[in-house]
Amino acid sequence: MCGIIGYIGERECSNLILEGLRRLEYRGYDSAGIAVISDGDFDIRRAAGKLDRLATSLAGEPLHGTVGIGHTRWATHGAPTEQNAHPHRAGDIVVVHNGIIENHRELLRELIASGHEFLSETDTEIVAHLVRRERAAGLDLRASVRAALQHVEGAYAIAVMDCQHPDTIVAAKNASPLVVGLGENENFIASDIPAILNHTRNVVFLDEGQMLELTRSGVTFFRIDDGSPFEPEVKHISWTPAMAEKGGYKHFMLKEIHEQPRAVTDTMRERIRLESGQVDLPELTLTAESLSNIHRAVVIACGTSWHAGMVGEYLIEQFARIPVEVELASEFRYRHPVVDEHTLVIAVSQSGETADTIAALKESKSHGAHVLAICNVVGSTITRLADSVVLTHAGPEVSVASTKAFTTQIVALYLLAVRLGQVRGLLDAERSTQLLQDLVEVPIHMEAMLHEGEATYLEMAKRFSHSANMLYLGRGLSFPIALEGALKLKELSYIHAEGYAAGEMKHGPIALIEESVPSVFVCPDGPNFEKTVGNIAEIKARGGPVIAVTCVNGKAALEAEADFVLTVPSSPEHTQVLLTSLPMQLIAYHIADFKGTDVDQPRNLAKSVTVE
Ligand code: M6R
Repeated sequence: MCGIIGYIGERECSNLILEGLRRLEYRGYDSAGIAVISDGDFDIRRAAGKLDRLATSLAGEPLHGTVGIGHTRWATHGAPTEQNAHPHRAGDIVVVHNGIIENHRELLRELIASGHEFLSETDTEIVAHLVRRERAAGLDLRASVRAALQHVEGAYAIAVMDCQHPDTIVAAKNASPLVVGLGENENFIASDIPAILNHTRNVVFLDEGQMLELTRSGVTFFRIDDGSPFEPEVKHISWTPAMAEKGGYKHFMLKEIHEQPRAVTDTMRERIRLESGQVDLPELTLTAESLSNIHRAVVIACGTSWHAGMVGEYLIEQFARIPVEVELASEFRYRHPVVDEHTLVIAVSQSGETADTIAALKESKSHGAHVLAICNVVGSTITRLADSVVLTHAGPEVSVASTKAFTTQIVALYLLAVRLGQVRGLLDAERSTQLLQDLVEVPIHMEAMLHEGEATYLEMAKRFSHSANMLYLGRGLSFPIALEGALKLKELSYIHAEGYAAGEMKHGPIALIEESVPSVFVCPDGPNFEKTVGNIAEIKARGGPVIAVTCVNGKAALEAEADFVLTVPSSPEHTQVLLTSLPMQLIAYHIADFKGTDVDQPRNLAKSVTVE
């Protein structure tokens, strides 16, 4: 939600900033703007809507300067208009901001009472005025920003420039992501790594309550509360710029779907010893004894990550016999959760920046629970707060709709479940080896699936893209996959879709069935196959169209019932989830693409939900 980039160096920077903003588009936005310092003043350009409008404006009348900041805004306070787009100016100060200033009403009243005039409806403009007030009192820029922030409550990553001091950008972070890129005679700040990956791979992730002063020759870091300096850890990012590009695919989402064989392999890499059936998770810092003393596990997550957590619930309960609850982080944080030092809390998050998951994680830690993060983004807030971190290594996920992050989260949870089962003496070497062998075969099956069957998806997209409602149904491990399929479809195509446990169908949703309401059944081999086929027959008897996702073995039985049959290779029940996830993603992708919606950046959505 909102993207920030800042540059100071020797290059003309407005195009560099624009390109950086393009790489932050995935975060979700509805207006954008850039400010550069030019001849002792600001040149500011802003536009409502997509970045192309800003780009057209810049192409017509370029901005010139070697220091600047840019922003993509996801509207919270005030409509997505040019007037409300960032950067916001107050005198010699401009500010861009990601987050929400919670006490903005009170600050606004105070500033208006002392004569400040406001041009936008945003909470951000207040920060520009607060900094201006401190500058007027004689403080330098860095001290002014620090003093201004003492008044601010809420979440922010901000970048501030003063046109009278063109050799400095000051930035600060509290509960919204900010990364610093270190270059040669040039330095960068950004909300996320892809924005600066073309220029540097040496980065510093800022922690809560930290600030920095960026000049051409270096960066100094200090704390917001007492101004004390500190030396941060510099990390080298292994992602290549190409990994954050589309690589010939029509959309990032399609590229990311096709990356899954590689991504799940990377999640397993160096963690599996097939010869001995061992799972190596050295990142899990609990001793084998502490692990065996765990009484229960609680998964905290949102959206797609919550669905991965549900798969994890089935796997951990099945392999390790530890009771698991899967909680929506947004609910968990407010309901006096029962967790203690015998609870393993598993925070699942692609971005590592989801505000609700961060809050639930902190709540869990305050009760003494060990928090294990399963996360994709190195150095993100969740990875820094957790006690143990298992990285999913999916590579950058740019499309707002999560795909490879989901399947890699499942792989990480699978490995954890096997490890817990081993520690608790429930899985012997032979069973462990078999479970791991099943997992190792997944990327091979995925690879095969991704090379066939596009024609069926296209035909299906043509037939169902005008539907207003769709149902997704599955039993057992296929239930979370049905939920995920429904989420994918509604996010991308704006078709209302509901996921249900197939056994619940007769308890309500069957009332919806008619010719115009298609149902997607996740119906692979296994103990639930026959029952689910029975549900399919009930839908068909009421005239509802059916898309069935099944294994090769079930194809013949389902072809007699369903309108469309999509097959996945036969595999054991516990790895089928990874295979049936792909048709869920592809159904949503093709329907959305056929409809012509914005696949990679669906309306109203943001990649990382960094505010409540
Ligand atoms: O970064 P996170 O995994 O914590 O994000 C959680 C959700 O916001 C995310 O999964 C969301 O539901 C996606 N848009 C799903 O495609």
